[in-house]
Amino acid sequence: SMIDRGNYRHFMSKEIHEQPEVVSHTLARYLDMSTGRVTLPEGFVEQLGRVQRLSIAACGTAYLAGLVGKYWMERYARLPVDVDIASEFRYREPILGPGGLSLFISQSGETADTLSSLRYCREAEQTVASIVNVEDSTIARESDLILPTLAGPEIGVASTKAFTCQLSVLAAITIAAGRVRGVLGEEDEAKLVRALIEVPRLMTQTLRLEEQIEGIARELSRAKDALYLGRGMNYPIALEGALKLKEISYIHAEGYAAGELKHGPIALVDENMPIVVIAPSDMMFEKTVSNMQEVAARGGRIVLLTDAEGAHATGEQPFARVILPRMYQFVQPLIYALPMQLLAYHAAVSIGTDVDQPRNLAKSVTVE
Ligand code: G6P
Repeated sequence: SMIDRGNYRHFMSKEIHEQPEVVSHTLARYLDMSTGRVTLPEGFVEQLGRVQRLSIAACGTAYLAGLVGKYWMERYARLPVDVDIASEFRYREPILGPGGLSLFISQSGETADTLSSLRYCREAEQTVASIVNVEDSTIARESDLILPTLAGPEIGVASTKAFTCQLSVLAAITIAAGRVRGVLGEEDEAKLVRALIEVPRLMTQTLRLEEQIEGIARELSRAKDALYLGRGMNYPIALEGALKLKEISYIHAEGYAAGELKHGPIALVDENMPIVVIAPSDMMFEKTVSNMQEVAARGGRIVLLTDAEGAHATGEQPFARVILPRMYQFVQPLIYALPMQLLAYHAAVSIGTDVDQPRNLAKSVTVE
């Protein structure tokens, strides 16, 4: 094949490191860097302005991208969003009014459940848009509009660069929707676009933390279970961190909304339980830290992902602390996804699993 691992030990590692570049390509497709404006097909933007709600359906990591999209679009565009796991979508018989808009997200463009959700929406006469990485896929062909991710071929079964490219497209949609719905002004748009343009550089900076994260992952690899906590738009990133760890290291992991911890999973916490906490210093910070302290009081081994300000504010030393660059809140999910991938990758390498082809999983699932 034309695609090789280069100097990387696994495709997954290569693909993690490609992110600054492929995200930059994807952003360049949807943003006009010189004017600070989003460039999406006009008809699509017009529809984003008109619809009462948007329904998103996808599977696996693509679903979690959709969940970030929901947090973004509701917050920055005041656009109500339903996001479903594709295998659930059809069977809950969602109410799809006339003139509705639905969005499907898929790396391969071949996932059976996502495709049948798309066909369900077509039958209900919805406009069908899809974010796909493979432009000549079935999902792409059956859509009214495709918004490609320019991630290039993704070989590792566990999705990495496709995910952050999907987020990049969703971020552009969010800004366009915010503008057309009158929630964001021209200045706001320019500010959010500038924040996105910074993402590749922030990713490069974050990837420099790999050695430190590798050390933490080695510790993590000895655990039987792990918890991942996040809030708001970083809650889906906690889910993605847990999913990545399960997929390639086979360590049982759960992602939880930090505030929900006390309603169940805290019962699992003992001194052997690693808890990865995503807590950048933003308006959610204090609440998340107080959830973290509930865990610390029960002996949980906290791995705190934050920035310099957050590290300063959390007096007592957690088991491990990874300090990411400061960034605009909007782009946090794009950046905090990277330590999630690196933790899972290095835990798996240290255990010795088949990272690129984990047992029981397929890159593209074409059965329902
Ligand atoms: C499989 C893969 C996942 C992927 C999911 C959805 O389960 O192992 O990495 O997120 O399918 O795939 P898609 O191609 O639709 O994004």
